[in-house]
Amino acid sequence: MIVLRTPGEMRHWSLERRREGKTIGFVPTMGALHEGHLSLMREASKRDDAAVASIFVNPTQFGPNEDFSKYPRTFDEDCAKTEACGVAAVYAPAADAMYPPGYATTVSVERLTEGLCGRSRPGHFAGVTTVVMKLFNAVLPHRAYFGQKDAQQCAVIRRMAHDLDTSVEIVEMPIVREPDGLAMSSRNAYLSESDRERALAISQALFGAQSMLEQGERRAENVVRAVRERLDGLDVDYVELVDAEEFAPVDKIRGSVVLAVAARVGTTRLIDNIKFCAPGSAHEEEAEK
Ligand code: PAJ
Repeated sequence: MIVLRTPGEMRHWSLERRREGKTIGFVPTMGALHEGHLSLMREASKRDDAAVASIFVNPTQFGPNEDFSKYPRTFDEDCAKTEACGVAAVYAPAADAMYPPGYATTVSVERLTEGLCGRSRPGHFAGVTTVVMKLFNAVLPHRAYFGQKDAQQCAVIRRMAHDLDTSVEIVEMPIVREPDGLAMSSRNAYLSESDRERALAISQALFGAQSMLEQGERRAENVVRAVRERLDGLDVDYVELVDAEEFAPVDKIRGSVVLAVAARVGTTRLIDNIKFCAPGSAHEEEAEK
């Protein structure tokens, strides 16, 4: 596995693969890799001829009071895990290779970034879309793999990839969880033993909501209330039901929706979500017309 450090080196490597007629599958990450990340890498290695993973803790997507400086950095271990997933190249640029003096450009997606994490983390998604566009321009992938764990991020990137005519196919992969249900996250490393225990309420609340939805509950208000009750004691940032494409709040559940939660456990902000597709809703909508 080769490690590439600049956009120029990365692009040169990718152009060679493309000239050989190979497809390139790309997994962007900020490192501190866990099974969630590795599931994306295994899929990229399986579906594409050459898999590339990036490891870059992107400063521009962290707010001034967020955890950029203490974000876990475990590069050597990350490379060993990446290689074991069959990844051919790691792209790990230094911050000044990404944002050299004079840098002045931002890519921002409107509308889909207004709610949820966009509301509580101003500037976050502009940081994400800018770095992902830059990574796409260096890696030149055919497909890029993202986790449903960051469902709003995935929808925002899909919108960007389409709107900016990138031709990159965005693949969304399911959330990988710990055996007890906690969604895997690099930030779980911050949790004390008792916070780790309390954090379980998030996935438990979402699984409870999943049963309500499966049993036919269709009023967002009722589902959100039930989730909030189960999160009693945590510092809840949001609990919202939104449509899966636009990430706009819904009152009545039809079609594909996402139930998303963000909550602070101690000082650690965690996010999780479930997706639900209301059976027969296309049918019902037709009938209502
Ligand atoms: P990071 O948090 O490192 O996540 C990298 C990718 O791994 C994202 O697509 C994320 O959704 C996915 N992922 C994280 N935990 C997961 C889990 N438990 N199950 C499945 N997939 C999971 O997301 C970012 O980095 C950054 O914003 C980035 C896109 C790299 C831009 O800087």
